Amino acid sequence: MTLSVRVKITLICIAIVFIAVGASTTFDSVFFVRQYSRALQARAFVIGKVLESQLNRLLHLKIPINNLVGFDEQCCDLVAKHRDLSYAMVVDLNGKILFHNDPSRRNKVLSDPNLLSAIKGSENVSQTYSSDGAQFHDFVIPVFGLHGEHIAAVRIGFPSALVSEKTKSMVSLSISLALLSLGIGVVLLVLALRMWVTNPLSKLVTAIQDVREKGADSAPLVQINSKDEIGQLASHFNQMMVEIKESHQKIKNYTEQLETKIQERTADLKATNEQLIRDIAKREQVERELRNSREQLRNLSAYLQAAIEQEKASIAREIHDDLGQNLTALMLDTSWLKKRLPENEVPLIEKVNSMSKVIKASIQTVKKLSTDLRPKILDDLGLTAAIEWMVEEFRNRTGTKCKTSVDVENSILDQERSTALFRILQEALTNIARHADATEVKIELREDHGQVSLEVVDNGKGIRESQVSDPKSFGLMGIRERVSMLNGEVRISGTENKGTSIKVDIPL
Ligand SMILES: Nc1ncnc2c1ncn2[C@@H]1O[C@H](COP(=O)(O)OP(=O)(O)OP(=O)(O)O)[C@@H](O)[C@H]1O
Ligand SMILES: [Mg+2]
Repeated sequence: MTLSVRVKITLICIAIVFIAVGASTTFDSVFFVRQYSRALQARAFVIGKVLESQLNRLLHLKIPINNLVGFDEQCCDLVAKHRDLSYAMVVDLNGKILFHNDPSRRNKVLSDPNLLSAIKGSENVSQTYSSDGAQFHDFVIPVFGLHGEHIAAVRIGFPSALVSEKTKSMVSLSISLALLSLGIGVVLLVLALRMWVTNPLSKLVTAIQDVREKGADSAPLVQINSKDEIGQLASHFNQMMVEIKESHQKIKNYTEQLETKIQERTADLKATNEQLIRDIAKREQVERELRNSREQLRNLSAYLQAAIEQEKASIAREIHDDLGQNLTALMLDTSWLKKRLPENEVPLIEKVNSMSKVIKASIQTVKKLSTDLRPKILDDLGLTAAIEWMVEEFRNRTGTKCKTSVDVENSILDQERSTALFRILQEALTNIARHADATEVKIELREDHGQVSLEVVDNGKGIRESQVSDPKSFGLMGIRERVSMLNGEVRISGTENKGTSIKVDIPL
């Protein structure tokens, strides 16, 4: 259950009023009982004194008290006059009732010791007294004779219930008044709460809801004119709303500026991007052209290699077959001529001998030339024999120690691969002879995992990395070109003063 602030404050006020009324009623009743008892006592002594004065007047007529007649009626008049009085009597000092408003009680003797001691005393006494189940406020006033001697006592009594009844009626009156004022107070409180608290609070709550639903910019300000805490709260709220609206406006302006900047930047970026795309397209075009050029270059190189190889073979063949045959024929002709020359023609014979020597030397040169161009052994006996021959030649020419290991069947190598491997080895050995200062060379040719591998290792000064990657190292470039045309791989490496290694793998 949700209670409104107004109900809560009202309940708190009612509780406070109840506590206040309870406390004041309790205090009032205690105070009233005491005050009323005192007033009753004073009144009782005044009433008693009236009876005692009447008795004294008779005693002044020198009538002894025991001879007095009809004083019961005086007692009876007194009780009739004071309706709340329960009894009025005159008793002698022994407790014997001399006169009573109820004559039937006359001559009865009182036996209550407290009562008797009060009767015998010469002072006014007030005390409570019980008789026949009823309780009384009993008042005793002494009566003195003509010579001032204490002869009797006047006794009057009020019912005890008189005080409590008076108290009750007083309490109920005060509670009624309190409840009436509470009712009026509650109504006034509710009105005041509505005017000063709940209505302004409701306005504030509505304003906050408006902010939540419509947003701070379109929500109206709160109209509360009071200067109390709620008024201050409303004024702070309004101030806050104004500041929020200003902040929103600033943010909006800033966002607009930012958007404009973003649009400008986006346009710039778009232009840059388009330029970049154009550049990339241009670069791709250039790269494509470069790739095509490389491809053309490679094809050209392959074509050139093949053409050179063919040309070399053809020249070698021509030199060998044609020039070689002619020189041989010339050689036979000179020996024929020598046989027919007369023995005394010494200068002619010497001339023919020197001619035949030149022809022999030319035949050797022709042979070497044709072998250098393309050794016949490569075409006739295959790569393995050509390698053995080339290594032997190298050893004889340079005096370098050579270890050769060839473990390949000629039949698995076609002419293209055989020629490539032969030329690669030729270049490697030529480089060793020219640059390495090596004393030992290892040559290994083997077939492994579907590829043929050639490895040439020397123990010379070692090739440097810069020389390996130098674009002017045309010999090494030729090796790479040949291998690349056959989809193979080359690894060239060197360690200073330890040697150089060239390893070539060509798929079969
Ligand atoms: N086995 C080797 N040991 C040490 N240095 C070497 C070796 N092989 C090549 N080099 C170095 O690498 C360089 C490049 O070799 P490359 O074969 O490409 O050119 P080149 O032999 O100088 O000339 P060519 O074009 O006639 O072959 C050589 O100049 C040499 O300095
Ligand atoms: Mg070289």
